[in-house]
Amino acid sequence: MSKIIIANWKMNGSIQKINTDLMYYNQHLTSNIQKCSVVLAIPQLYLSHAASLCKNDMYVLGSQDVSIFENYGAYTGEISAQMLKDVNVRYVIVGHSERRLFLNETQNTLIKKINNILDMGMIPVYCVGENLSTREKKEHMNFVSDQLDILKSINLKGECVIAYEPIWAIGTGIVPHEDEVSEMINFISAYTKEHLNVKMQLLYGGSVNINNAKNILAIDNIGGVLVGGSSLNPEEFINIINAVG
Ligand code: PGA
Repeated sequence: MSKIIIANWKMNGSIQKINTDLMYYNQHLTSNIQKCSVVLAIPQLYLSHAASLCKNDMYVLGSQDVSIFENYGAYTGEISAQMLKDVNVRYVIVGHSERRLFLNETQNTLIKKINNILDMGMIPVYCVGENLSTREKKEHMNFVSDQLDILKSINLKGECVIAYEPIWAIGTGIVPHEDEVSEMINFISAYTKEHLNVKMQLLYGGSVNINNAKNILAIDNIGGVLVGGSSLNPEEFINIINAVG
């Protein structure tokens, strides 16, 4: 399975940045492109514009969120899975810790979102991960297992991705030891085999940068990386893509 490298721009960027960054990608995204799928999860507002600049299918579009509501309707400010599909989005991030924390997203909310994404034939990227105190209490496995439990109630047709993103590693520059990443990836892999009976691609996210990407991507069973801060620098992001072995 080819690796998935996702740029999560979060609430950053502008028309001008998209123009310059995508021009840079169009010029430089060549050498390693066969070995991975590059996903640009830019703010939803700019997805159509990015789609118009996308050259030779070198990258695909991702959304950072989706509405709990289906199709169309009187839901002011919402963007549905159907609308994302309409602008050629392939991957949708769900359950990022920032949304769980700042927007009070609950497990029930996330079930609805994942169902909407799957119904439109797009690929959910379901984020899980513990905070530092949970890890220090050695409760991280149970915590992630509880987060994974929502997947049992979903008819997981098609492709699905799970991203392990320890909260203490996001935006901090602190990356777990490779053994810690490996332990959790193996745990999630065993969980999905036992309870979900579907093969999922498992990503790591949290302070991925040019210095650590190669080692992280070389961990057994890692299906790719979800990159926040470092994806805002196009040169650094290309180097992360080139770290795919
Ligand atoms: P970071 O963010 O790479 O800036 O740590 C990762 C994420 O939140 O997806």
